[in-house]
Amino acid sequence: MFNTPFVLLFALLLTLPLVILFAPRILPPRRVTISLPDELDDLALFRRAARSTVHRPGSISRLGATNAKPKIAFLFLTNTDLHFAPIWEKFFNPKKSKHRNFNNLYNIYIHADPDSDVKSPGGVFENRFIPAKKTQRSSPTLISAARRLLATAVLDDQLNAYFALVSQHCIPLHSFRYVYNTLFRPRIESTRFPAPLSFIEVLSEEPQLWDRYIARGKNVMLPEIPFDKFRIGSQFFVLIRSHSLIVINDRKLWRKFRLPCLNVDSCYPEEHYFPTLLSMEDPNGVSDYTLTNVNWTGSVNGHPHKYTPAEVSPELIRRLRVSNSSFSYLFGRKFSPDCLLPLMNMTESVIFRG
Ligand SMILES: *[C@@H]1O[C@H](CO)[C@@H](O)[C@H](O)[C@H]1NC(C)=O
Ligand SMILES: *[C@@H]1O[C@H](CO)[C@@H](O)[C@H](O)[C@H]1NC(C)=O
Ligand SMILES: *[C@@H]1O[C@H](CO)[C@@H](O)[C@H](O)[C@H]1NC(C)=O
Repeated sequence: MFNTPFVLLFALLLTLPLVILFAPRILPPRRVTISLPDELDDLALFRRAARSTVHRPGSISRLGATNAKPKIAFLFLTNTDLHFAPIWEKFFNPKKSKHRNFNNLYNIYIHADPDSDVKSPGGVFENRFIPAKKTQRSSPTLISAARRLLATAVLDDQLNAYFALVSQHCIPLHSFRYVYNTLFRPRIESTRFPAPLSFIEVLSEEPQLWDRYIARGKNVMLPEIPFDKFRIGSQFFVLIRSHSLIVINDRKLWRKFRLPCLNVDSCYPEEHYFPTLLSMEDPNGVSDYTLTNVNWTGSVNGHPHKYTPAEVSPELIRRLRVSNSSFSYLFGRKFSPDCLLPLMNMTESVIFRG
């Protein structure tokens, strides 16, 4: 009695609301793409930052003229409130007078995802938020955010000499004085690294490397990035100023790394862009290891182990400092937000003692 097209149409109309209702649960979340205006905006910032450090012939560098001490720029990359701000506050402003020589030898810059309504913790973090854009896991937006932080810090203060990228889940494992002395201690004793060095993990033997390489499609990384130049490493690093400038000035690799991922499960652009770029441009200037201890044992879904309050103890802090390199780990990740109280309880007695 009804003809078939009519029944089909009716069925379609009936299922439409169901599709609309369930689509967000079935379909993967929409990927954040980098728009042309955003790209141009970033480019303008990078150009300004690169120009700011060009030394014109005959001019005296401000650093030499004032004889001021170099600083560490701390770059906080976050999409939530800064859970451990009270610990960092104590790190930057120790009460003990013997640390007074190290006052103000740092700058802080925060890139907070604008959609996540991050509140300023005040104190040393007040007014340190930089113009930020949306970030998303498994997309090149995390590379852009880190580059924005580097460029802003390069531009802001000529004295910024080291650039340490950290997240809201990171904590310091030592006092500021210890961190400063570690980074700036003379390296004449080291024959391999006589000059200042960037600390970034650079690995080439990881089993997942090929899947990561082809995550944007086969052969798309060529010719700029052949597979044997493709690297993986830690998302969080400490770079020297000249390497920050290499990152800010790069257009060639960025053109490839900004391509959207087709295989989102194998896509962590920020773990590849920085180690690949720096190992191509200055292989002898990077340590190949990181100063941020991350526990990948039993990782789930690409997330490292997240420490809970029950695991926090003086023993844990001491264990996290131990590394195979000649440097102690300076930072640790990742800690769940409720670790704040037990950690605060041992700042003076453990974390900042040494
Ligand atoms: C690393 O994480 C595993 C659980 O995934 C845990 O058993 C181990 O104790 C952690 N390592 C350290 C140094 O805490
Ligand atoms: C140091 O290296 C050895 C051998 O490669 C490894 O078994 C050990 O887990 C490493 N320790 C740390 C703290 O990374
Ligand atoms: C604080 O440290 C003391 C001494 O180490 C310990 O007895 C106490 O349980 C700790 N409190 C918290 C909240 O961790």
